[in-house]
Amino acid sequence: MATIAQIGDPLNRFDGVEKVTGAARYAAEHPADGLLHGFAISSAIAKGRIKEIDTSAALAVPGIVEVITHLNRPSVAWLDSKYDDDAAPPGSPLRPIYDDRIHFSGQPIALVIAETPELARYGASLIAVSYEEEPFNTDFSKALDERFSPRKARSHTHNPPDRGDPQGAFDAAPVKISGDYRLATEFHNPMEMHAATAIWEPDGKLTVYNKDQGSQNVQAYLSNVFGIPLENIRVLNPYVGGAFGSGLRPQWHVYLAVMAAKMLERSVRVVMTRQQMFTHVHRPAALQCVSLAADEHGKLTSIMIEATTATSRYEYHTEAVVKWGGKVYGCDNASFGYALVPLDTSTPGDMRAPGAATGMNLFEIAVDELAYAAGMDPLEFRMKNFSDRDPVDNVPYSSKALLAAYRDGAQRFGWHKRSQAPRSMREGKELIGWGVATGMWEALVVETTARATLHADGTLEIASAASDIGTGTYTVMAQVAADTLGVPIENIRVLLGDSDLPKSPLEGGSWMAASTGAAVNLACRALKSELVICASKVPNSPLANLSAEQIEVVDGTIRAKGQPARAVRLTDALKAAGLNSISAEETYKPSRDRNMSHYTHCAVFAEARVDGELGTIRVPRIVCAAAAGRIINPKTAGSQMIGGIVMGLGMALEEEALTDHRFGRIMNHNLAEYHVPVHADIGHIDVIFVDEPDPHVSPLGAKGVGELGIVGSAAAIANAIYHATGKRIREFPITIDKLIA
Ligand code: MOS
Repeated sequence: MATIAQIGDPLNRFDGVEKVTGAARYAAEHPADGLLHGFAISSAIAKGRIKEIDTSAALAVPGIVEVITHLNRPSVAWLDSKYDDDAAPPGSPLRPIYDDRIHFSGQPIALVIAETPELARYGASLIAVSYEEEPFNTDFSKALDERFSPRKARSHTHNPPDRGDPQGAFDAAPVKISGDYRLATEFHNPMEMHAATAIWEPDGKLTVYNKDQGSQNVQAYLSNVFGIPLENIRVLNPYVGGAFGSGLRPQWHVYLAVMAAKMLERSVRVVMTRQQMFTHVHRPAALQCVSLAADEHGKLTSIMIEATTATSRYEYHTEAVVKWGGKVYGCDNASFGYALVPLDTSTPGDMRAPGAATGMNLFEIAVDELAYAAGMDPLEFRMKNFSDRDPVDNVPYSSKALLAAYRDGAQRFGWHKRSQAPRSMREGKELIGWGVATGMWEALVVETTARATLHADGTLEIASAASDIGTGTYTVMAQVAADTLGVPIENIRVLLGDSDLPKSPLEGGSWMAASTGAAVNLACRALKSELVICASKVPNSPLANLSAEQIEVVDGTIRAKGQPARAVRLTDALKAAGLNSISAEETYKPSRDRNMSHYTHCAVFAEARVDGELGTIRVPRIVCAAAAGRIINPKTAGSQMIGGIVMGLGMALEEEALTDHRFGRIMNHNLAEYHVPVHADIGHIDVIFVDEPDPHVSPLGAKGVGELGIVGSAAAIANAIYHATGKRIREFPITIDKLIA
């Protein structure tokens, strides 16, 4: 039975079976003849120079082929003017194994290359390095004196303009709060570690299987830094075992793998260890100072937000931390400040909802405090301050069904049974708290291209260089194609994750479903028009005079909608046109109304149960109601929301990179000690999508949901803990020590 799928169907993931049976190959799983294995040696000091590096003992071991250090590395084309990649912040990026400079503990300083991964790792233990150490600082709180305003910032991270008289309004207000809110350094911990298999082809071309969020971005990067013509490098990432932003910039493993492959003219694989996953990109530590004021009716009158986040000493990683509080609620008076502090660490990077996960979650704790100061239910307070205009850009939101999300979420959660006073709900020895927060993320779209090819056997192939980082892109693209052309879902093949395919940018910012979906829709519509022409060329065609909108492609036939007898076999149509297959490639170019603001929103409700004696925290249930445009696939979209909420729980209660500042080294650089939520930590998570058709946001009416779930969920948990215990913890993660202090 052919399955006719449409936009809105909760289809299972196309790649689900491949992934759970091991048929899906990840970056470190692609075979190559004569493959060599590289293991990176990490710097033992946080700052200084390499004095000497003795590789002789390693090189004496049979099976160890080479050790690359800064002394014998091949020359690279990498010049300051050519370093760039799509996601790089201003500064001079790390050049691994380039010179004797050490910028952070764990920096890769040499690569041992051997016949097996075990030998390479053993070889690394035989390398003797002596260093000249220099003073350094890795402690965010100690670096606050070095705060500076970034002169260069990534364009989307500029502060919103101040408005009104926030200090005057604050001073005059009857209700106000001020607080300092903190977030610990977090690291991306996808299941798949960063890895690259660089396959040296006999003709000198390179095929690189890499873990990243954009094969063409990595291709361009490798071409630039190694001076290899673009057409001689192909990068593939057909399956990505999670990334959360860690694959936006090409990481050092792929640089090292390609450097070694080029030097040795052999295929080389480099895999980061889990410990080494803590030596590159991360969500920076943050301090956000918030002052809020309201009038006697609970209307916000002043918002003042100042945030500081960490960066490395060699690049300026900026995030849009402070804007969210200025956008989400109506308030005439607001001011924003943002600064960086330099640390002797690797450069931070984007991590799921960069900026918003930090700024909005910390802001929403402050909002809760203000609601209590005003003596108001925290949900009612938020609803009262709802704004359907974006107060920063002073334009209406193209859609913002947040009030419906508040209502539906509250109803599902049973919010009306809540008692307002902290410590007023308990069961046995457990204190029970119910908290709410608002979440918000951009509804972005980017230019992207897709190709649709219909073969004579009725198979439809959809192709784009877009990545599926575990989000459901394969499935959703097939669904859009099925919906547009009427081809049964089983007959659709989706090709992604290959730099040879039609141009697509990085997968990030939650823009892929709406953007690539639009490109697939355009390509399928173009294909349909071609098909109408082909079908009309068949002698005595029953489809003559029909328009594209009047036809569908089902069961190997092109037929009139609603009139299955008026059909032309696909093979006959293609034969009449003299073709074996027919293809259309289209580019979606975003063109949006600048007089509107495009965002997604959610309302998160969390229950926290805190053991009154031990201070242990459980979160048995979370309800999240999201307003995120038209949902293409409620199952994959729901899973993205759940994933974000789980990460929000990690932010609220667990995730924290702990550094021994005497050595500048992260101590808990493994999954035993750096805690991410596991099944035992997760209760029931209920995701609701409220109806939010939005013709302005993207051609399919779709927004993205990859990041929204983390925004608000951490704050809802913090607010639930306050309601349970009466203790206001202004620092993530909220660990037992802080709760019982
Ligand atoms: Mo996301 S942090 O844009 O991968």
